[in-house]
Amino acid sequence: MNTLETIRTRRSTRKFKAQPVEREKLEKIVEAGRFAPTGGNCQSNHFFVISNSEVLKKLVELVQSAFAKMELRDDLYKSLQNSIRLSQKGNYSFCYTAPVLIVVANKKDYGNNMADVACAVENMMLAANELDLGSCYINQLKWLNEDPTLLEYLRSLGLKEDERVYASVAIGYADTESGLPNRTESPRTGNLVEYL
Ligand SMILES: Cc1cc2nc3c(=O)[nH]c(=O)nc-3n(C[C@H](O)[C@H](O)[C@H](O)COP(=O)(O)O)c2cc1C
Repeated sequence: MNTLETIRTRRSTRKFKAQPVEREKLEKIVEAGRFAPTGGNCQSNHFFVISNSEVLKKLVELVQSAFAKMELRDDLYKSLQNSIRLSQKGNYSFCYTAPVLIVVANKKDYGNNMADVACAVENMMLAANELDLGSCYINQLKWLNEDPTLLEYLRSLGLKEDERVYASVAIGYADTESGLPNRTESPRTGNLVEYL
């Protein structure tokens, strides 16, 4: 696939096979993230490539328990309402049982923290598509990035005192008949453009 084709055919995958992802492919994906541009060339993104099922299980538990404590309000962002609703029912796996979750942190007092992380995540999702893997941008750890219990756990995994999580990306083989991710181009109905 060339770059433009990889961009146009990248779609979110939310159903994954349990099949592990080869280390070689993961390394290529993470390198794509590390090669993303960063504001002022800061390169302060911090990547946690999690394929340990115990660690993933713990994160899923902590996320569910944090959302379950939150008040469900109509004025909240829709996806956040969904996370709270499902967590309160005890039925929430924020990363869709993907075999790999790459969590990306950055310095909490750096103005481009989320922008740098988002650039890295997009690069990783494009690399995943190129390598026939499905991926999905996962925002829940960003919503909960000041939750004390999650922070303590993430610090035990290597998160530094001055860092917070700004995004994560679920990666794995898509649970489709072919094992390939859905690559149907989705029509653009927004994202206005003015040529001046
Ligand atoms: C900033 C951002 C946050 C997102 N957060 C989530 C998320 O937490 N969970 C999820 O399933 N998808 C998430 N997505 C994926 C979007 O829902 C998805 O990209 C969008 O619906 C378009 O579908 P497509 O990726 O198949 O083109 C997020 C995407 C972005 C850019």
